[in-house]
Amino acid sequence: MVNTLPADTTMGFLERIDRSRLPAHVAIIMDGNGRWATARGLPRTEGHRKGRDSVNDVVRAARELGLAYLTLYAFSSQNWQREQSEVSALMNLLHEYLETERATIMDNAIRLASIGDVERLPPHVYDRLRVLERDSAANTGMTLTLALSYGGREEIVRAAQAAVRTAGAGGGGAGAIDEQAIASNLYTAGMPDPDLVIRTGGEIRLSNFLLWQASYAELCFTETLWPDFSRNDFYEAIVEFQRRRRRFGMTDEQIDELGKSRA
Ligand code: FPP
Repeated sequence: MVNTLPADTTMGFLERIDRSRLPAHVAIIMDGNGRWATARGLPRTEGHRKGRDSVNDVVRAARELGLAYLTLYAFSSQNWQREQSEVSALMNLLHEYLETERATIMDNAIRLASIGDVERLPPHVYDRLRVLERDSAANTGMTLTLALSYGGREEIVRAAQAAVRTAGAGGGGAGAIDEQAIASNLYTAGMPDPDLVIRTGGEIRLSNFLLWQASYAELCFTETLWPDFSRNDFYEAIVEFQRRRRRFGMTDEQIDELGKSRA
């Protein structure tokens, strides 16, 4: 993890998490599946398969911790350009996930949601996704959002178009389009912005993920490839998040004042 705390031999990362200051929303760019597989002489799809175990581990860890929102970048708009065989393998993994994790999702009061152009998904995935979204809609334990066929720029364009339509149809014209008008038309409308975005796999970029919503997110990058990412790595990222001081464009003094007035 970049900027990790000095090694503390007396406490694990879980014990160092302050439960009263958890991020409300953690979003993860799960990168490195292909490299994990290639390094072992395996087809890339084996990396995705192993990556699914990390998904299961992190979802359980997030739920146990009491996070309210976890968002996973599982398939980008750009991923459609990969080899057909890899796209099919990913779709089959998603299909399997929606079947095999159904019980865990329901038993743990997890609400499953999705963001992205999900209507592009093949029917065998789309139908299962919609069924589980519907069946879990009343769950209040944690919202697990899968970003599928998702692109941040595409999302912003779509939201801007919707805002323009509203503004033009008696909604006050272009001048009436403000941040709220865009945010309320994003796939994530109604969700808090991510407080923490984690990216595995060593690349230091956002790759079209939550471009609007991540404006003030803390970013945490790790060399660890997604299939090797464990719940302990997840805890470590949260400890790192809690070590940062978020200022939202204000000064330290202003943040201190704000804290006092809220206390
Ligand atoms: C990026 O690694 C990862 C993906 C494009 C897919 C992520 C999918 C999973 C983790 C498994 C299935 C997900 C769920 C929710 C069941 P990459 O292939 O770009 O890796 P590379 O950079 O090493 O090539």
